Amino acid sequence: MGRDGTKHDMTDLTKSSGIDDPRVDLEAVVAERTQALTEALAQKTALLHEVDHRVKNNLQLISSLLLLQNRRAGDPAVKASLRGVLERINAIATVHRRLFQSEDVERFDVSAFVRDLISDMAGLSARDDIQIRLDLERVDVAAAKAAPLALVVSELLSNALCHAFPEGRAGEIFVGITRLGGDFRIEIADDGVGLETSARKLGFGLTIVQLLCQQLKARCETTAALPGTRVVVQLPVNGAHS
Ligand SMILES: Nc1ncnc2c1ncn2[C@@H]1O[C@H](COP(=O)(O)OP(=O)(O)OP(=O)(O)O)[C@@H](O)[C@H]1O
Ligand SMILES: [Mg+2]
Repeated sequence: MGRDGTKHDMTDLTKSSGIDDPRVDLEAVVAERTQALTEALAQKTALLHEVDHRVKNNLQLISSLLLLQNRRAGDPAVKASLRGVLERINAIATVHRRLFQSEDVERFDVSAFVRDLISDMAGLSARDDIQIRLDLERVDVAAAKAAPLALVVSELLSNALCHAFPEGRAGEIFVGITRLGGDFRIEIADDGVGLETSARKLGFGLTIVQLLCQQLKARCETTAALPGTRVVVQLPVNGAHS
């Protein structure tokens, strides 16, 4: 009832004052904001994919240049050095190819990457007498860890392919990835000649593995597999080992 005694209809009042149902307004604002955020996220994802795609293409270009230079080099030591750089760059290129293909640009599926890397490296090694056995469980890690992790796996796999089976010796390389609570474990084992314990030398490859494992807060253990060599890298999916 108004001061003048007239009865007001509330619907008429809100309509005439231009104020709609506040709940309806809020829903519309939330829907609009959600759509804007979804579009922004889709744009960010597309942009990151584009960056990964370009990085991958540029790495492939560098890799082709190294391959050409390797073919022209006469000195076997120079050839071996170029080959080493080429393999490392290829491993990082494989990471970017995976990141580019993955739905989630923030996470990196280690097992999918290892599968790609193995098919690339085994193809390049052209050793039909080496069987590769895989037992890969899906483990996603932060994309920031992808490149160092990829290099570790690439070095260990390259060692198994290059050193475990000399002079046409046949054998098997096992690559396993399993999740153990908050950690995950990568195992690369071969049944080849084994490490020479008397003169165990640390080349550039194993030095890189040590340094990257420190960076990743990972534990790396090498043992004699009798026959062969087993390397286990264990690292936390998130956070760090104390
Ligand atoms: N799986 C393996 N089986 C047998 N010997 C191995 C294995 N892994 C490593 N080695 C031995 O350890 C040495 C050091 O390996 P490392 O990766 O540090 O250097 P590299 O492979 O010789 O050279 P690069 O710098 O190209 O990696 C190798 O030369 C090899 O003798
Ligand atoms: Mg090596």
